[in-house]
Amino acid sequence: MTFYQIWVRSFCDGNGDGIGDLYGVYKKLEYIKSLGVDAIWLCPVYPSPNADYGYDISDYRDIHPDFGDLDVFRKVLAKTHRLGMKLIMDLVVNHTSDEHPWFLESRKGRDNPYSNYYIWRDKPNNWDSLFEGKAWTYDEVRGQYYLHIFSKKQPDLNMDNPEVREEVKGIMRYWLDMGVDGFREDVINFISKKEGLPDGLPFLPAINGMFAYKDGPHIHEYLAEFREVAKEYDCIQIGEGPMTTVKTALMYLTGKNKSLDMMFSFDHMMADCFYTEYIHHPFDLKKLKKAFSKWQYSLNGKAWNTLYLENHDHPRVISRYGSEKFHRESGTMLAACYIFQQGCTFIYQGQEIGMTNIRLRDIAEYKDISSITNFNRYHVNDTIEQRMRRIYRSSRDSSRTPMQWSGRRNAGFSRVKPWFTVNPNYRRINVEAQENEPDSILNFYRKCVKLKKSSAALTYGRYREFFPGSREIYMYERVYKGHRWLIICSFAKHNVIVQLPKEYAGAEKKLILGNYPGTDPDDMCFGPYEARVYAFR
Ligand code: NOJ
Repeated sequence: MTFYQIWVRSFCDGNGDGIGDLYGVYKKLEYIKSLGVDAIWLCPVYPSPNADYGYDISDYRDIHPDFGDLDVFRKVLAKTHRLGMKLIMDLVVNHTSDEHPWFLESRKGRDNPYSNYYIWRDKPNNWDSLFEGKAWTYDEVRGQYYLHIFSKKQPDLNMDNPEVREEVKGIMRYWLDMGVDGFREDVINFISKKEGLPDGLPFLPAINGMFAYKDGPHIHEYLAEFREVAKEYDCIQIGEGPMTTVKTALMYLTGKNKSLDMMFSFDHMMADCFYTEYIHHPFDLKKLKKAFSKWQYSLNGKAWNTLYLENHDHPRVISRYGSEKFHRESGTMLAACYIFQQGCTFIYQGQEIGMTNIRLRDIAEYKDISSITNFNRYHVNDTIEQRMRRIYRSSRDSSRTPMQWSGRRNAGFSRVKPWFTVNPNYRRINVEAQENEPDSILNFYRKCVKLKKSSAALTYGRYREFFPGSREIYMYERVYKGHRWLIICSFAKHNVIVQLPKEYAGAEKKLILGNYPGTDPDDMCFGPYEARVYAFR
């Protein structure tokens, strides 16, 4: 199964105000279908003051006026279904916006119906928030501190309160009754906090705090309640699990506590950084392969992986793990390197044409709160150039620039000036140009999706990695009922002679897909960022 993820604000402007919206999504559904996609994940489209661009929700049962209204949402949903695709929504219930009516009430005092909807304390602990400053903000009206793991404008809900859990179930039902097919559940492993909210280690309160709000003591009970609702509707639940380990993921995905169908893990997103892209290291292929293989081996036969390289929270993958110089080669190779693993493929808007990071000159031009905070919080003694280089490498805004539909004005995203800067490379990198180019990244994505779908071995087959010690080649097989596939990806900028594993030597092979047109299947000299997919007998 293949998902396409839409971050609506930057996808397509359908009503001419410079902001991507559901009218634009409606127009582009055939395009999405043409990729071979089975389902769409819509990032939050609810009313929001946009402190965190939709992840701070002020009304769970409506559509942000920037994006349209419930009527157009219903039209998008109906057309998605007509085209034979499913649609899932983002369920963000670890926190709300501070402008949500529940919070406005909760602030008023300790004895109103909403006073216990959030986490209030007289004395804060030492946690840092992940987005800005301390994780606690003093509220003058109530005379107490409230907890916010993300920004000040995203107070954490108190999931220990059964009424809050009833609200969550009500929200789920509201959208499921309308016909949506499931949810991507935001930071879902954070919703139950450790009793007493203990301090983190003083020098690492942000990261350490995480161990107090990750996989908390009641998480399985709470998720079981939500699972009951999901079961009534037979819908899919995909949880985002920052910092989740294989062991804990299996607790959510299997056995008596099974409460999610899949989980987004993060290990493979840290091959060039530590914990956040802002703490950057040189790209390490061995680290990437280790993360891939760990998840592939551990979930095999037990649960289904989510396969992704990009989303709205990470910089563009060509700029990270590939090469902007070898744009087409590395963009296509990266597609092959992850799509043929076992699991469900996720493609993020623009990834299929190889959009790259944006280089803005001034921090004031960035929109994303975490980029701005990182800039102001860390490495403040470095030069501005050095700090801006870090932002270029790490900012979430690189995945949030307007979708590049064509080489025309505003990249064909909007008739008027877009809400956010278009990456100037749109004249070269855009959908229209790649539609007309048989060997483009876009058409390669289509081929990968189609090939995977056509083969039981590429879907269900057992995964095994070869040469894990190589710093240039990532090679793995998928085997099922006598069918063997070998996927070989070069991450080198130069030619590399590739050796086949012993058991493959001399076997009859067929080159089914590659990113170097006209390759001789027996010539094992791989060009820069070359990828090949062989079928063996
Ligand atoms: C994860 C979301 O993907 C991200 O965009 C957001 O900032 C945080 N959760 C907080 O909701």
